Amino acid sequence: MDRLNRLRDRLKTMRAGLVFLLLICATRTVSAADPVFSHQRHAGVNLSCTFCHKGAAEKERAGFPAWATCRTCHPGKGETAIPSERIYRLPDFVFFSHARHAAAKAVCTDCHGEVKTQARITLHRSTKMAACVDCHKERQATQACTACHELGQ
Ligand code: HEC
Ligand code: HEC
Ligand code: HEC
Ligand code: HEC
Ligand code: HEC
Repeated sequence: MDRLNRLRDRLKTMRAGLVFLLLICATRTVSAADPVFSHQRHAGVNLSCTFCHKGAAEKERAGFPAWATCRTCHPGKGETAIPSERIYRLPDFVFFSHARHAAAKAVCTDCHGEVKTQARITLHRSTKMAACVDCHKERQATQACTACHELGQ
């Protein structure tokens, strides 16, 4: 029992060391001259998507991280605009909710593809009406106009 506990303690120390090393690697200033945030470069850190996109499971909008989130690992002052560009963007007359889709067990990759392999995000699935409706047919979700378009808008 004692040996097991000691082993567990050692593993804990090793894990803490690993995280520490990782932070040392990342502890450098990112500034205005830095390139756009790369999901690919951060794949090794293995953060969950909701670490940065806090609303992706529970809110309408997934949202973007503030620089304060980056400062967890990069102290210093970043000045590049986040986001630098928008890839997935619906017109205002369309209603969409991340929370509804998360509840229906649709996962990020269904719509955004393998983000972790991409330095710059590219459009995986179109955001046009036909692409929405195709999946809704496939998964027996609603095709009622008013689900995605409020009347009178
Ligand atoms: C460390 C923070 C961080 C993590 C973790 C992260 N992202 Fe991002 N993500 C960003 C930032 C920053 C941008 C904006 C990039 C830019 O400047 O264009 C972004 C952009 C995106 C976009 C493009 C949105 C648009 O319309 O332009 C998608 C999609 C996305 N992320 C999905 C994901 C998914 C899926 C995961 C998990 C596999 C994930 N992200 C993990 C920080 C993060
Ligand atoms: C959990 C720690 C962690 C967080 C949070 C984090 N990073 Fe990083 N970042 C790293 C590590 C580790 C590297 C080095 C990866 C490498 O060189 O392969 C890195 C590298 C970078 C680089 C250099 C990439 C290059 O092409 O030279 C930039 C720029 C960067 N991060 C920006 C950001 C931004 C912007 C955010 C917030 C949206 C962020 N990081 C959040 C750990 C983190
Ligand atoms: C059913 C398809 C679908 C799924 C599943 C999905 N997204 Fe999205 N995502 C979209 C669409 C469509 C937009 C554009 C929304 C808009 O403009 O109103 C979007 C926008 C975004 C954005 C840009 C910021 C925002 O809130 O508009 C980020 C970041 C993002 N998604 C991340 C994620 C992450 C992380 C997951 C998994 C937890 C995820 N998405 C799951 C379709 C999806
Ligand atoms: C990967 C498959 C998939 C894609 C792509 C997809 N959806 Fe959905 N969507 C679903 C599923 C499954 C549900 C069912 C949720 C439920 O039954 O609660 C749903 C539900 C919804 C709802 C809630 C409907 C209600 O009952 O009130 C709206 C609104 C919606 N989707 C809009 C969109 C829009 C807009 C797009 C395109 C930008 C889109 N969806 C793309 C799978 C998808
Ligand atoms: C699952 C979601 C969804 C449903 C259901 C849906 N739409 Fe759409 N609709 C969209 C999206 C997303 C767009 C925006 C496409 C774009 O970016 O151009 C759109 C765009 C439109 C437009 C603008 C012109 C165009 O084609 O881009 C009209 C008109 C329209 N829808 C009518 C309808 C009618 C009528 C119904 C019912 C028969 C319906 N929609 C059902 C998602 C939906």
